[in-house]
Amino acid sequence: MLEIKSLYKRYGKFYAVEDLNLSIPEGEIFGFVGPNGAGKSTTMKIICGLLTATSGEVYIDGVDALRQNKKIKEKIGYMPDFFGVYDDLRVDEYLDFYASVYKIKEENKKKIIDDLLELVDLSHKKEAYVDNLSRGMKQRLCLARSLIHNPKILILDEPASGLDPRARVEMKAILRNLKDMGKTILISSHILSELAEMCTSIGIIDNGKMVISGTVADIMQQIYSKKLIKLKVNDKLEEAVTILKEFPFIDKITTGENLIQCGFDGGDEDMSRVLNTLITRGIPVATFAQLDGNLEDVFMKVTKGGEEK
Ligand SMILES: Nc1ncnc2c1ncn2[C@@H]1O[C@H](COP(=O)(O)OP(=O)(O)OP(=O)(O)O)[C@@H](O)[C@H]1O
Ligand SMILES: [Mg+2]
Repeated sequence: MLEIKSLYKRYGKFYAVEDLNLSIPEGEIFGFVGPNGAGKSTTMKIICGLLTATSGEVYIDGVDALRQNKKIKEKIGYMPDFFGVYDDLRVDEYLDFYASVYKIKEENKKKIIDDLLELVDLSHKKEAYVDNLSRGMKQRLCLARSLIHNPKILILDEPASGLDPRARVEMKAILRNLKDMGKTILISSHILSELAEMCTSIGIIDNGKMVISGTVADIMQQIYSKKLIKLKVNDKLEEAVTILKEFPFIDKITTGENLIQCGFDGGDEDMSRVLNTLITRGIPVATFAQLDGNLEDVFMKVTKGGEEK
């Protein structure tokens, strides 16, 4: 549905986007994660035709997006990272205005607007002034606006930024709804763990380059090629370490007070063999667990800190 090939955006000598490749199949949610200044907004604006690329190719639903700008507008719904101020415009008038921009027929407008307000849970604010809405409400209104022409693909630039925890949960629920409606979604955020649970795939961008991409499980696998085991013994720490060293699929053993952590490169059967051996040889094992890699660790590991460098 969305295909980006070797995309570059250069400002003078500086590359905001460098050799970026990305492919999102229909109906998927792709999470675009990266620190400040990584190139997320730049990439999204290029996809939407708001910024010209230095070189590269972008295809949306098979259409060459960089050359057939007009044709793709109807396919894309874009929610920018910043939105303006709208003096004296009510919520319904605001959406009515955008409906006109997209040349939606007068007789269909009312139903579309009502449905959208319901989707983003703003029906009760229909007659309120846009400027008087809370930030979370404005963000939901902006999302409604991006949906007005029923686009196939949504490009959402940090739709959950600046929202309180409750509003974030609500925003996520709306996005899941949109996924269920069959939309293809590209969504950006600084926070990997926030996207991980609702995205089908994730790409981490840093300094204009895609550092790693794939399903969350793939990424974890690539970064932590080995699993980790952590165990606690009530006694006989040295003996336990000696036993662990006998297994070829265990390495990098480190110890703390009563604690042992080690790398593990085996299957589930090997795992239970380890535990069994420890117990039958008299090690008082208190806890034995496989550690999941932490997503934020992954993020810190693959990015170097964006503009701070
Ligand atoms: N008009 C411009 N001229 C020069 N450099 C620019 C211009 N616009 C953007 N940049 C640079 O391009 C880089 C990427 O910016 P971009 O806004 O895409 O980052 P981002 O990943 O969206 O960051 P954030 O998380 O802060 O929104 C930044 O270093 C920025 O300073
Ligand atoms: Mg941005």
